[in-house]
Amino acid sequence: MRTKIVAGNWKMNKTFLEAEELVAQVAEALDTRKLDNKTVVLCPPFPYLELATDIAKDAKFSVGAQNVYPDDSGAFTGEVSPPMLKSMEVEYCIIGHSERRKYFAESNEFLAGKLDGLLKHDIIPIFCCGEVLPEREAKKHFKVVEKQLNESLFHLKKNEMSRVVVAYEPVWAIGTGVNATPEQAQEMHAFIRSLIAKKYSKKLADDVTILYGGSCNAKNAKELFSNPDVDGGLIGGASLKAVDFLAIVDAL
Ligand code: PGA
Repeated sequence: MRTKIVAGNWKMNKTFLEAEELVAQVAEALDTRKLDNKTVVLCPPFPYLELATDIAKDAKFSVGAQNVYPDDSGAFTGEVSPPMLKSMEVEYCIIGHSERRKYFAESNEFLAGKLDGLLKHDIIPIFCCGEVLPEREAKKHFKVVEKQLNESLFHLKKNEMSRVVVAYEPVWAIGTGVNATPEQAQEMHAFIRSLIAKKYSKKLADDVTILYGGSCNAKNAKELFSNPDVDGGLIGGASLKAVDFLAIVDAL
């Protein structure tokens, strides 16, 4: 069965005390909610993972990292490995975010290695894909996303692919206040699902969680989430304030 997920990607925001406050506020608010088959994931910066996993032990959210290095250990100054995340009880990890692709030149091939590393250590990858504006304007968005999936994801075996969460994040919608329309999101999510069905099986494709990300907020979340192939959201800016984030959780 498909899991419905709202994940908060804090990016490079919050001091330690601010992070402590936000995690506590979200934990307290979730305590009074019935989440049924909804999963809430908080993805704070690396230094706050322990704080988050500590609170998560007695709370209704899971913790994710925002990045990882493919290898288990070694001379990679400044990097963090999948076993390190696992040893801190981190359950999810965002990879392939457009900011990593753009500012840190992460290629589809490099991301394939990150997926392997995470799955080897039983951490659920939240794999981001999506086109930039000129690609959409040139009507190449389907081709771009297909290439990202082909080169990063589709080497996985069936039992590995079934553990991956996909996040469609059109780059032109990230942090811009211009979200994809519900129709644009649904169309791309259905396309992604059809590619997974073709490569693996319809059953597997039906079970994969596909999130939408890009200026998703308390106002537009309900409409975006009402689409049959949109299984939740990866939330940036609106995850930084508890009330906004919780309104999105409630919209799912
Ligand atoms: P945004 O970011 O919600 O601020 O647009 C989403 C993301 O980058 O994951």
